[in-house]
Amino acid sequence: MVQERNKKIVVRNLNKTFVNQETGEQVVAIDNLNFSISENEFVAIIGPSGCGKSTFLYMVAGFEKASSGEILLSGKPITGPGRDRGLVFQEFVLFGWRTVLRNITLGLELQKMPRQDAEGIARRWIRATGLSGFENAYPSTLSGGMKQRVAIARAIAYNPEVLLLDEPFGALDVQTKNYMIKDLHSLWKEADKTILMVTHSVQEAVLMADRVVVFGNRPSGIVHEEIVELPHPREVGDPAVARHMKRVTDALSVEVDKAMLRERGQH
Ligand SMILES: Nc1ncnc2c1ncn2[C@@H]1O[C@H](COP(=O)(O)OP(=O)(O)OP(=O)(O)O)[C@@H](O)[C@H]1O
Ligand SMILES: [Mg+2]
Repeated sequence: MVQERNKKIVVRNLNKTFVNQETGEQVVAIDNLNFSISENEFVAIIGPSGCGKSTFLYMVAGFEKASSGEILLSGKPITGPGRDRGLVFQEFVLFGWRTVLRNITLGLELQKMPRQDAEGIARRWIRATGLSGFENAYPSTLSGGMKQRVAIARAIAYNPEVLLLDEPFGALDVQTKNYMIKDLHSLWKEADKTILMVTHSVQEAVLMADRVVVFGNRPSGIVHEEIVELPHPREVGDPAVARHMKRVTDALSVEVDKAMLRERGQH
């Protein structure tokens, strides 16, 4: 227990099985997962498509229940969603009837923060995400990447202790993505956050995280952990970055091959 004291998130013997309501068929998404994340750590999770990454993140967010096992947050079992966690969904959801500004202030309004303070915080993140000038625009008038930036700004403005990001940069162009990577990193440094980010990009993972966790083929378990102790900002051209990327890619490609074979019914 002493060992777990500075652990923000502890995952113990976690299992998740989905049952198809019509066919009764069972899909084991997560099988006996054990790991932990320290306070203020930035962990990236990477793994083949369908291996249970989003499912795991939703369980930490409290939107999905474990079939067995548990996840502890600051020592207490997670039983549902909470203000201490902010999630950016893979398929991000914006409220169509609210402007950009109002989408970002939403969480703060729910915390009963005075409107002016909420707007001040929202405007800061509007600037950081390059959305200045679009405060009063409605989501339907924004591009995919802009919507994604609103979703990221909303989660950050909400100021949760734990930020959960499910492929947050998926719809962004490389340029914007590079800015967001730098912004997210400085936010994390300045605000003492614990960040758990699911990504498909080995590069993104190695550039940002303290630790890259590779999930194996479904039902997922951890097949590799890469600790990245390089200073920031990290550059793609740095040979040390390349070495970390190679190790993660090697571990990942074995699992992607297995997933492909399984999907094609070859084993
Ligand atoms: N609500 C659900 N009902 C039934 N099965 C589900 C449900 N949600 C996820 N699954 C199954 O659980 C497995 C893991 O899904 P999950 O979305 O967590 O994968 P992922 O690792 O996030 O994949 P991707 O990288 O493609 O986003 C998949 O086989 C998926 O079909
Ligand atoms: Mg997913």
